[in-house]
Amino acid sequence: MREWDPVAAPTEELAALVRTFNLIFAADVPEDPPWRMDSFREYLAVTMPEERRICWVAEDGDELLGYASILLVGDIAVLELLVRPDARRAGVGTALLAAAARRADAEAYGSIGVEVVGDTPAADFFEAQGFRCAFVEMRNLLDLSTVNWEQLTGLAKGVGSGYRIEYHHGGPPEELLDEYARAKATMRLNPAYELELRPSSYDSERLRASLATLRARGLKPYVVLAIHEQSGAVAGLTEVVVPAQRPTRADQYDTVVVRTHRGYGLGRALKARMLTELRTDEPQLEDVQTWNAVGGEAMRRVNDELGFKPNREWREYEADVSDVLRRLDAAS
Ligand SMILES: CC(C)(COP(=O)(O)OP(=O)(O)OC[C@H]1O[C@@H](n2cnc3c(N)ncnc32)[C@H](O)[C@@H]1OP(=O)(O)O)[C@@H](O)C(=O)NCCC(=O)NCCS
Repeated sequence: MREWDPVAAPTEELAALVRTFNLIFAADVPEDPPWRMDSFREYLAVTMPEERRICWVAEDGDELLGYASILLVGDIAVLELLVRPDARRAGVGTALLAAAARRADAEAYGSIGVEVVGDTPAADFFEAQGFRCAFVEMRNLLDLSTVNWEQLTGLAKGVGSGYRIEYHHGGPPEELLDEYARAKATMRLNPAYELELRPSSYDSERLRASLATLRARGLKPYVVLAIHEQSGAVAGLTEVVVPAQRPTRADQYDTVVVRTHRGYGLGRALKARMLTELRTDEPQLEDVQTWNAVGGEAMRRVNDELGFKPNREWREYEADVSDVLRRLDAAS
């Protein structure tokens, strides 16, 4: 096992990692599209300015068996851990976890978190390592070949009078960043979002950095905004990212309708408009994924109506670094 730097790694090592990702997805999450080499180095190497990612690879001679990384963000080390299907149950995952936990400890990070895809061996692995499940979301998938585009175009227009829907390819326009950040900040009122390992950007400075980071990682942002015409306020927004690494699958990130503007059909219209625009701007797209907090009723109804289907649980596991290390020491 060795620490591995995606910035300096030879292209063949990146290609081996993409192949490993694809073997893992084919085994564990076969409904997900394969990864490509496009911007893959940038995807791993670039982080937000105040964050750092540290990576390891496990090898047998020239063969890549596994990969781990921690992203040091806020007060938590966010782990990613992958072992090639034919190399599992031989302690490779445990060895990579030990390296990651030791480093998190050395960097004075007290807790470690990981997102685990439901119905894969990873849940058993992290439970065996003493992690606790802190939060569960449902991933929903919309197969674009099943969409009734005529109906969707109608939904996109169905907003209460006094609102305007705007599409912005490339992210929110500079002059609306403050307003956009203010609308996103209202999500903080929902305690479910506090637990997520994908922190949102709540001020315009952070939002600007976050958009620059997305673009540098090969993740193309799109937004649709609902503008309250009388005040000019951002009443709602929805965000989608199309990754260069798997351009047939879009990620629908946050969708927010500010509380005082709820009940005017904005959530549905925002998402419907986004889909109709993506159909033109990203014609290679096959499906869109989005995540809902379990119990997020209003958004679940919107997703149902648009044709999103619940697909798998996404489970966030957490542990104290000291507990992980104690358990690993006791087992060795
Ligand atoms: C999770 C993962 C990294 C585990 O790697 P691994 O090398 O097989 O793990 P280990 O051999 O060190 O397993 C350690 C213990 O975890 C538990 N465990 C691991 N896989 C298990 C499974 N399929 N079923 C039940 N328990 C399991 C066992 O207790 C195992 O000990 P044992 O083999 O002595 O019984 C691997 O399954 C994987 O790559 N999964 C897909 C990627 C992923 O989802 N990663 C997590 C999110 S980033």
